[in-house]
Amino acid sequence: MKKSVSIGIFASGNGSNAESIIRACEENTLPAHVSVIISNHPDAKVLQRAQQHGIPAFVVNRKDFPDGIKFAGRLADILESHGVDLILLAGYLRKLPPAITRRWRQAVLNIHPALLPKHGGKGMYGIRVHQSVLDHSDPFTGVTVHFVNEKYDEGDIFLQSETIPVNGNDTAESLASRVLKVEHRIYPEAVKQWIDIYYNDR
Ligand code: GRF
Repeated sequence: MKKSVSIGIFASGNGSNAESIIRACEENTLPAHVSVIISNHPDAKVLQRAQQHGIPAFVVNRKDFPDGIKFAGRLADILESHGVDLILLAGYLRKLPPAITRRWRQAVLNIHPALLPKHGGKGMYGIRVHQSVLDHSDPFTGVTVHFVNEKYDEGDIFLQSETIPVNGNDTAESLASRVLKVEHRIYPEAVKQWIDIYYNDR
């Protein structure tokens, strides 16, 4: 019998993408379970979601550690002790330490609310991404799931959504809410494909 993949989610805020992954696991759409959630913000809504679903959650903030090595060590301890196979970043606004991306090579994914390589990079998150799409008069946008390496939004692209048309009357907010709906479908789909390609062969 195939093993259930253990997923660790990093999120800084609302956590609606985390919720879509949790639900896909609970509904058995994914042969996986979310075993731990890590946030850098004690008041992030994702922590309430974790509690509602009975998922262990931890707040780990770089500022509370004297150096990057101890910070990475704490993250690695949590991930190892929950047997994490796959790390998902879902609105996580910090960089993961290189020790983590090296240890979980090809097993860290991020979701970005635009069609990378456009509208990505340092500082390009949240509403700024959608404003950038409008500022460039792009006719369409979309969603990208990519591997995470040491540089923001520069890991190999794993999966992109269909294109999402930008309407003449769109604001950054209206675009964000349309794109978010697609994110909630694409991220579980990407995880399913990741499991097929990188996990079931082990
Ligand atoms: C999403 O738009 C995601 O693509 C980006 O951050 C946002 C997080 O939203 N990386 P939520 O916290 O999952 O609701």
